[in-house]
Amino acid sequence: MRSKFYITTPIYYVNAKPHIGHSYTNIAADATARFFRLKGVDTFFLTGTDEHGQKVEKAAQEAGKPTQEFVDELAEKFEHLWDTLDVRPDDFIRTTEPRHVKAVQYVLQYLYDKGDIYKDSYSGWYCVPCETFWTEGQVNTEGDKPRCPDCGREVDELTEENYFFRLSKYQDWLIDYIKKHPDFIKPEGRYNEVLRFLEMEKLNDLCISRPKARFSWGIDIPFSPQHITYVWFDALINYISALGYPEETEKFKKFWPADVHLIGKDILRQHAIYWPIMLHALGLEIPYQIFAHGWWLVDSKGSAEKMSKSKGNIVDPYAMVEDFGVDVYRYFLLREIPLGVDGVFSYNSIVHRYNSDLANDLGNLVYRVLSMAEKYLPDGVEVFEERPKNRLVESLFELKDKVDLEFSSLNFYDGLSAIWEVVNLANKFIEEEQPWTMRKEGRFDDLKRFMYILLETLRILAGCIWAVMPSTAEKIWAQLGIEEEILEVGWENIFVWGGIKEGTRIEKYPPLFPRREIDD
Ligand code: ME8
Ligand code: MG
Repeated sequence: MRSKFYITTPIYYVNAKPHIGHSYTNIAADATARFFRLKGVDTFFLTGTDEHGQKVEKAAQEAGKPTQEFVDELAEKFEHLWDTLDVRPDDFIRTTEPRHVKAVQYVLQYLYDKGDIYKDSYSGWYCVPCETFWTEGQVNTEGDKPRCPDCGREVDELTEENYFFRLSKYQDWLIDYIKKHPDFIKPEGRYNEVLRFLEMEKLNDLCISRPKARFSWGIDIPFSPQHITYVWFDALINYISALGYPEETEKFKKFWPADVHLIGKDILRQHAIYWPIMLHALGLEIPYQIFAHGWWLVDSKGSAEKMSKSKGNIVDPYAMVEDFGVDVYRYFLLREIPLGVDGVFSYNSIVHRYNSDLANDLGNLVYRVLSMAEKYLPDGVEVFEERPKNRLVESLFELKDKVDLEFSSLNFYDGLSAIWEVVNLANKFIEEEQPWTMRKEGRFDDLKRFMYILLETLRILAGCIWAVMPSTAEKIWAQLGIEEEILEVGWENIFVWGGIKEGTRIEKYPPLFPRREIDD
């Protein structure tokens, strides 16, 4: 077993409010962190906000606010969303915090002194209205004059002095490292993509500064007052600055290297190429894994497109939560598609998932069992200590290793499917055993024994879904008359038969997930 677990999410740009794409990453990371905590592993879960750069500065100007005030407000919106979604990070890092600025400046100075950062001049094309610098390969050269690939206006040739980080020097090292660590990049398709890219193309050194003459919202380069730090070089360092780097804190010693950097596939190159090279140049250990998940797309006139701030097609997570509740939303995102592939988000698909898995399967099971317990066990629960041998109970106990294997590797899709197979077996078990017949025939001992199996099944199933649906799981335990908290009991003990105590009186509650109609 691992002795610690450190998981991170990207730090999000604060140029606009968070949308369901951001919430996807954080819900997946939260469920993973919860699962490790449930197993008793010392866990650290980090998220935060990326607050520097021209995009953010521009968004503040458009909003007519001082940049710091603007980023403060947006960072709070992100924190508030995580709180609403029951996402419980251990820390929230903001790149405008002094602890982060200090770490970035340390890294810059260290790599500069080591000779891995050097100054060079850089020629390219500048689009004044867009305030964007384009390289030779990026500008549109189809007409008589070079034009901006974004807005189509003419661009000016510009030569700038900038600082560069020697990525190229470490290319062979990185190829070798990736080959020796087949689990470094997940899923496998992404691993192959990065390796192929590195083997085919020669890396250019990375321009890590921006002249203040262009914009100034960034971290000062310590050895050059005319420059600020390129936003990616700044942002990646959050994963260590949050642990106290460059100080050798207890936290740093305990949690570094990270176990998983969970990201979207849009930012794979920065994480799988720049970041390990930066760390290696600093003499630090490389994270165990970069996991790049897929995108949530939205349906746009019959074809799927990526949800993004600039396209204005975003789905608001608050609207989903208001409509369905936090746990339904968390469940849907993690069950609908495997982490790694793209999915199309639609209202009807969430309603469908809700009705089939939650209203019909789980909700119905809980409602039936509690109703029967209220009716058949008027004097309270009778405990049967020995774990019975039947298909339902065998399958239930097989979940212990299965769910552990899948959830620990961020495979919620298969982990939840396995749990739902047991939910369905339990519903079938009720049909097959016919408790109503036991009662009619006066087989009260059989009936009590049957009820104990079902109540224990509910208890254990709730333990299994806790990482994904924490409040539903806790509600089920409360309805079963259990006073302890799931997290306190822990993964091992959830699977000890006999958790529900003798004499517990059980009553039925309104259905957890009342059925909904599909709107057209
Ligand atoms: O890239 N589907 O920030 P960002 C799934 N600041 N996930 C999505 C998504 C979608 N449609 N849209 C966004 C940045 N995401 C940098 C990161 S890290 C050192 C710096 C999620 O605000 C996904 O995790 O553009 C993606 O990688 C991230 O948001 C990009 O967030
Ligand atoms: Mg982005």
